[in-house]
Amino acid sequence: MYDAFAYDESVASTYERFTNLLGKVAEADETSAFLERLSRGGCALELGVGNGRVAVPLSERGVKVEGIDNSDSMLELLAKRTDLIKAWKGDIADFSSEHRYDLVYCVYGTFTLLSRREEQIACLRSAAEALKENGVVVIEVRVPSLDGFVSGQKTTAMFVDHENTFVNAVLHDPINQHFISTILWFSGASVTRLPQRVRYVYHQELDTMAECVGLGLTERWGDWARSAFTNESKGHISVYRRTSL
Ligand SMILES: C[S@@+](CC[C@H](N)C(=O)[O-])C[C@H]1O[C@@H](n2cnc3c(N)ncnc32)[C@H](O)[C@@H]1O
Repeated sequence: MYDAFAYDESVASTYERFTNLLGKVAEADETSAFLERLSRGGCALELGVGNGRVAVPLSERGVKVEGIDNSDSMLELLAKRTDLIKAWKGDIADFSSEHRYDLVYCVYGTFTLLSRREEQIACLRSAAEALKENGVVVIEVRVPSLDGFVSGQKTTAMFVDHENTFVNAVLHDPINQHFISTILWFSGASVTRLPQRVRYVYHQELDTMAECVGLGLTERWGDWARSAFTNESKGHISVYRRTSL
């Protein structure tokens, strides 16, 4: 069945340019420095590895990185870019690996692309099981915000320069904790649609889900530069360790 929210060929073909315009490619160096510290020079597994935006600079820092993704198109982008990262097709909501890792990480809100609570818990369980004894799980998600919503909908200008305009149209489904959005990317005479559905989570629900699978919070930061997590934070990076085996 066609999945309107999958990272298909049309999303993959624009991903590098899109993330570059939003500053996410530049940010990857800081992200990988943060993750390098936690992987202690060992090995890491990225959930939703995509085109290797973070995995590639992390492996260049000497960490052995592997990755899982469910999109053939994104995995092809990664394979074209490097052969240093072993990556395979799989569902981050339900994976197992014979290998054990110092670090299992899931960044850029990828965790919230799992649209059901049960899938999010299963993802954390699989991540916990894939850890070495002193390993850590790192999750980066946005702080859910209902600012600007009127009658459950909101349209914002996300990015504008002389060539590109990103207009984001979002619907809120409070029953399922979903934001269903489409970014309309106007560039020259063309328009590209980037649809997405996320199941948002507040940090306390994330901690509770993690506790359910034997993971306890050890660090939480407001950004990759390790700024404090405050009421003003737009997102957070949460680090968990196993509390029970
Ligand atoms: C927002 S992109 C992030 C890619 C990369 N981690 C980055 O930071 O640039 C989300 C990635 O997760 C993948 N993905 C989404 N849902 C997935 C699932 N259930 N299992 C595996 N991969 C998934 C997508 O194909 C896409 O490559």
